[in-house]
Amino acid sequence: MKRIGVIIAGLIIIGSFLVLLIFRILNRPPSSEYAENIQVHKILDKGGCLVCHTMEPEFPFYKNFPIIGKMIRQDAAEALVQIELNEAINALQANLPVGEVALAKIEKSMLDRTMPLLNYYMIHWASYTSEAEREIILNWAKNHRRAHYSNGLAADEFLNEAVQPVEDSVPVNQEKVALGDLLYHDTRLSLDNTLSCASCHDLATAGVDNEVFSPGVGGQIGTINSPTVFNSFYNFVQFWDGRAATLATQAAQPPLNPVEMASVSFEQIIDKLKQDKELSRQFLRIYPEGFSEETITDAIAEFEKTLLTPNSRLDRYLKGETSVMSELELQGYALFKDYECATCHVGVNMGGQSYEKMGMARDYFADRNTELSLDDMGRFKETGIERDRHRFKVPGLRNIVLTEPYFHDGTRKNLREATADMAKYQLDIILEPEELDAFEAFYECLTGEYQGRLLSNKNLNK
Ligand code: HEC
Ligand code: HEC
Ligand code: HEC
Repeated sequence: MKRIGVIIAGLIIIGSFLVLLIFRILNRPPSSEYAENIQVHKILDKGGCLVCHTMEPEFPFYKNFPIIGKMIRQDAAEALVQIELNEAINALQANLPVGEVALAKIEKSMLDRTMPLLNYYMIHWASYTSEAEREIILNWAKNHRRAHYSNGLAADEFLNEAVQPVEDSVPVNQEKVALGDLLYHDTRLSLDNTLSCASCHDLATAGVDNEVFSPGVGGQIGTINSPTVFNSFYNFVQFWDGRAATLATQAAQPPLNPVEMASVSFEQIIDKLKQDKELSRQFLRIYPEGFSEETITDAIAEFEKTLLTPNSRLDRYLKGETSVMSELELQGYALFKDYECATCHVGVNMGGQSYEKMGMARDYFADRNTELSLDDMGRFKETGIERDRHRFKVPGLRNIVLTEPYFHDGTRKNLREATADMAKYQLDIILEPEELDAFEAFYECLTGEYQGRLLSNKNLNK
């Protein structure tokens, strides 16, 4: 009997050893002779990321087995809500830049050791990401960010932060800017000459009006909260649903929007502007082709490129003045990174680089318990793709203490509420009061300067 026991124990030891050996061999990191992007591609490919994080999953053979098949389908459905990885993985293979959000999310999943899912590599041994492979990915993330997303302003030690400082300025044509400034403040863009862009996006009130929904011509009320125009230059697309690809195409919409400026056509606007001899003269000097939808919106967009707010305390910190942030503020920043906030609120504008679902972890709209509007559909409104339902362009968080109320539906009156709900609905985390204090302190560091002075909002006496 005893001998059988010893033999079994021996077999178990040898068996485990063999399993480990196979595991090690299967998970040998790719050769360092490959380019870094290709190495990462190989690791992610092997990791099965695309089994789950894709619109067109190619499930393993067991997809039709009763329990395990259901599990993988469910994992894949949840995974796709978090992130679609085709674009990033194709980019790696083609040796092209990976998007800033995908970069931050992949990096975070490696830092937290959450991916690939445990129950996946338990079956697919080869998909496990070993320590050596994690190192390769984390180094790649660092180098990739430096190469593609750092604007060179951060101090060396902060070049790898997911958040990067706002630039002092970007190249513009000053004459177009001057014209754009005039047009931005010109009420003739509206049907009854009552509203300009500045009516809803006053620069003296941080580029917002602090209303839940802005009043348009004739007091009509909109159906979605007005975002700020400051730093909108950095957004990858404009509007909550991304329906405008550029600032210029964005600027063409409010003048003709029936509940905003309600003009009938650009011809109607141009007829009014043409009667202004001084403006016409100035305009023709820079745009010999004269007033048109294209030239008017080009000038406004050029002006908007100057609406940047550099030198916030966070930016000064990132540029190396590390004493400008207090202990509590830094604690807030650390939480912001630890809790994945910085994987969506990423980059110079701390957002504006991807569409994300409102309610990743819990059903925001069910809890809100008011009727769904068309605007609540988010990106889905534009694409009709089911995955885009309730996905919004992530708002930037620059100057956030000045731009209440919050969320696309303007339902959150203050940042404490908005923050608690972000953690709850996006991450399924209930923040402690002390954590909320730290976040609130941190937000104070996000107010930048406009024309050399700290941005302020006269509505809020701030
Ligand atoms: C078996 C399916 C499956 C595979 C394989 C898989 N994921 Fe995931 N992934 C999920 C699910 C489910 C979630 C959401 C739940 C969670 O976060 O645990 C998720 C969440 C994520 C997230 C966001 C949250 C987080 O945990 O960081 C990232 C980023 C991510 N996966 C990246 C990857 C990468 C990179 C790979 C390949 C190395 C990978 N995933 C492989 C299912 C999968
Ligand atoms: C009646 C109020 C109102 C007026 C007037 C108005 N806007 Fe807006 N603006 C909004 C609202 C509301 C949104 C969000 C709409 C959406 O996303 O569907 C918005 C969105 C924007 C955005 C996108 C910002 C982002 O982060 O996506 C920019 C840029 C902008 N407006 C600039 C302008 C310009 C330029 C003008 C003048 C040509 C203008 N707005 C006139 C209310 C207004
Ligand atoms: C999965 C992506 C994602 C994560 C993670 C995330 N956010 Fe957000 N955040 C969004 C989206 C999308 C919105 C817009 C939601 C809406 O308006 O309905 C938003 C809105 C906000 C707003 C309101 C901005 C405004 O102008 O209305 C704040 C503040 C905010 N997030 C802070 C945070 C903090 C703090 C964390 C971490 C605890 C966090 N977010 C995590 C995607 C994310």
